[in-house]
Amino acid sequence: MDKVLVEKVNGYIANIAVSYIKLHNLHWNVIGPDFKPVHEYLETLYDAMAEVLDESAELLKINGQVPLASMQDYLKVATVKELESKDYSTKEALAIVLADMQLLKAQASELRALANEQDQFDIANLAEDNLANYNKTIWFLSVMNK
Ligand SMILES: [Fe+2]
Repeated sequence: MDKVLVEKVNGYIANIAVSYIKLHNLHWNVIGPDFKPVHEYLETLYDAMAEVLDESAELLKINGQVPLASMQDYLKVATVKELESKDYSTKEALAIVLADMQLLKAQASELRALANEQDQFDIANLAEDNLANYNKTIWFLSVMNK
């Protein structure tokens, strides 16, 4: 695994970590008539993020690399932007999460391509599994907000 791939995995880890907190922000602060289903759905998404965070970091450790592991480090490299702590309508919340899932999908897709080039099958498998999940999440978020 070369330096560029390690940086890419760490960039992905940073975005997953920021998303984990950001999804909590929306889970807590979403408002509106659809509060309950959206509140509950966001919980399933941050639970999934926690698993991806752990799995991605452990793959770096397995390969003798160092995963970023502090909020300070994450905020330096994350491209997912944090949100102000305030109320969000369900429509706003779903649109924000949809945009982030599209960003994460694009990032996982790049990661998969680079990992495949280097025959780094464990990272490629992780990225591929995640891509399938993003597709499903993007479908859910798109139809929930129609
Ligand atoms: Fe909760």
